[in-house]
Amino acid sequence: MLSDFSPLPPDPILGLSAAYREDRNPNKVDLGVGVYKDDSGVSPIMAAVKQAEAAILLEEQSKAYLPPVGTEGFLVGMQQMLFGENHAVVLDGRCKTQQTTGGCGALRVAAQLLMRGSDSATVWVSTPTWANHVPLLGDAGITIREYPYYDYTTHTIDFDGMLSGLEQAAAGDFVLLHGCCHNPCGADLSLSQWEILSGYLGQRGLTPFVDLAYQGLGDGLDEDVAGLRLLADTLPEMIVASSCSKNFGLYRERTGTLSVIADTAEHADNALKQMLNVARGIYSMPPSHGAAIVETILQDSELTEVWASELNIMRQRINGLRLDFAEQAAARGIGRDFSHIAREKGMFSFLGISAEEVECLKSEYSVYMVNSSRINVAGMNSSNMEYLVDALAAVLA
Ligand SMILES: Cc1ncc(COP(=O)(O)O)c(C=O)c1O
Repeated sequence: MLSDFSPLPPDPILGLSAAYREDRNPNKVDLGVGVYKDDSGVSPIMAAVKQAEAAILLEEQSKAYLPPVGTEGFLVGMQQMLFGENHAVVLDGRCKTQQTTGGCGALRVAAQLLMRGSDSATVWVSTPTWANHVPLLGDAGITIREYPYYDYTTHTIDFDGMLSGLEQAAAGDFVLLHGCCHNPCGADLSLSQWEILSGYLGQRGLTPFVDLAYQGLGDGLDEDVAGLRLLADTLPEMIVASSCSKNFGLYRERTGTLSVIADTAEHADNALKQMLNVARGIYSMPPSHGAAIVETILQDSELTEVWASELNIMRQRINGLRLDFAEQAAARGIGRDFSHIAREKGMFSFLGISAEEVECLKSEYSVYMVNSSRINVAGMNSSNMEYLVDALAAVLA
């Protein structure tokens, strides 16, 4: 039977990384892979993480399994990051949180939870959305529908289109929203749009399902969850998948949470029991190390300060690169408008060039990005910016 499998086409992003590694051009630029990089092109371990790890190594007494839900200190810290201190949904027991294997693990457990609720569970995703949403949700059996989101011509959110697209959603459907730093387009809802959306979802009986993978990398730790908190303030139900991969730099430690908000504490408890049972059928217990790091940082005010200031530097660097790139491209006289790059948030944006231009940048200038022209802004740095702008000017001439 194992001989019956046909080969799969190579994963486009992994293929891009392999091609970049093999490229001998000393000026090569990697804007493809979605990890944060510093000015020297390295994806660093944060100092607060190193300090927390040192403490854990000294203090850890056992490698016995964690409880299925995760450790309390981590869960409390994550709930505070998401909803702030003393949010009613937490105090009233309407919000329940489970430690997961990264944001991906949270999305998959959520998908299987929804399928337990209804075998026709439907999740509406933005056009475009993060490519991995499709297998993470779809392979669990979720019906995936799309609502308009990003206008590629104006590089803005088509908010009217979004609401009219969602007119086709049925009560009980879920609407997947990027909490901040939309991947791949970098265009985030304004607070007034979140407000309108919250009223709309409530009125239509639609449930928000927020994917929060970049908290702290857009406008700030609290600013980036203003929309999420508004939904939590006003709606009876919500699902939140959150990730510590980017904001703690814990990618390989697979650290995240899945939270449910229900109309009553009892309903939230029932949902949590189902979530734990779903995880039991996939990986059983969550891993410890990443969550222990986050817990150690969040429970120590000095370490929290170190971490928050490192995160600030990362965010400011990304926002600075966005501005710098837009200014340099304008100054270089490239006949295209890249001002949206400076307006958008987080690690990703579309350059807005054609697949042929993307290919030409790669083959002629060793500048790597995915075909859609999505770029990882953090792949720019002080050494490659001028080369990148020159390459772009040459290709677009
Ligand atoms: C939009 C979005 N959601 C979720 C994730 C999940 O991240 P992880 O599973 O690494 O925590 C990512 C990672 O790139 C992402 O971009």
